[in-house]
Amino acid sequence: MKLFVASHNAHKLREIGEILPGFEIIAEDSGVEETGTTFAENAFIKVEAISEKHKGEWCMADDSGLEVSALNGEPGVYSARYAGEPCNTPRNNALLLKNMEGIKDRSAQFTCAIALIDPDGKKHLAVGHSKGQIALSESGSAGFGYDPLFIPDGYALSFADLSADEKNAISHRGRALAEVRKIMVK
Ligand code: IMP
Repeated sequence: MKLFVASHNAHKLREIGEILPGFEIIAEDSGVEETGTTFAENAFIKVEAISEKHKGEWCMADDSGLEVSALNGEPGVYSARYAGEPCNTPRNNALLLKNMEGIKDRSAQFTCAIALIDPDGKKHLAVGHSKGQIALSESGSAGFGYDPLFIPDGYALSFADLSADEKNAISHRGRALAEVRKIMVK
């Protein structure tokens, strides 16, 4: 069965393929702006756009980001463009560290919202969270984005210090995809 995914991120597409064996994963451009104020809203904006082109097929879109308690949930839906457009990871991470200078409460969570439209046109939402702390400095070279600054609860290492399998087992995206699997694989 085909699954159209509103992303060209090779990392995400591979992860989706691993968790949904048997589906032919096809990357598709949503061509829309992420104008929502929540992760779920942005995911639905994207999945509705691709579903218009692929009626009668499974379609999926995700939106994710980091919410820091002491920064009132920032960067949130603006995680990719925290330090301005286009997305620049070193600048985003440097800005996050600067904004966290002198702050004791370093609690944060990653959220991933995955919106699905099934072949009957019915909408589904799967959400996953991963809670942790913002580190005082970057560590590790695996992963992407804020990974070197995020220490998941129960670990002394950052997401970027973990292997892909270790991260997937506890990550927001891994958890949301596990929910997706329950919806798609009956
Ligand atoms: P998007 O869901 O690809 O739009 O992700 C938005 C942004 O959130 C990314 O550019 C990263 O900055 C951040 N982000 C989302 N998931 C992760 C993750 O697993 N690790 C690190 N950063 C992430």
